[in-house]
Amino acid sequence: MKASEITNGPKPGEIICALSDIEDGKAAEFSYRDKDEVREIFIQRMGQEVFAYENSCPHAYLPLNMKEGVFTEKSGKYFMCQNHGALFDIKSGKCLGGPCNGQGLTPIEVVLKDGNIIAC
Ligand code: FES
Repeated sequence: MKASEITNGPKPGEIICALSDIEDGKAAEFSYRDKDEVREIFIQRMGQEVFAYENSCPHAYLPLNMKEGVFTEKSGKYFMCQNHGALFDIKSGKCLGGPCNGQGLTPIEVVLKDGNIIAC
């Protein structure tokens, strides 16, 4: 899914997008302005579950992906930072290997309700 802009960030209760907007195994990317910074987030769909994080690798604070909507390595089991190959657990965001081993992605709280992904 193409990156979209959320004005002033996701507010609690706000619908970010529909689950069906995200292809299974892929991610939707969003950006929003937070004071003077532009923040980038992504929401990964895994079947009927979603996992949302800031798109910033804890190693060098670079975006993880180089291709739109693709955050996993070939098997689809782990997120992979395309910069230096760090691997992350999809459910927890914890780095499992690579230069930021033991650190983790910053989670974004979302829930699924009635087929919509909603900010918490
Ligand atoms: S920036 Fe992600 S592994 Fe280096």
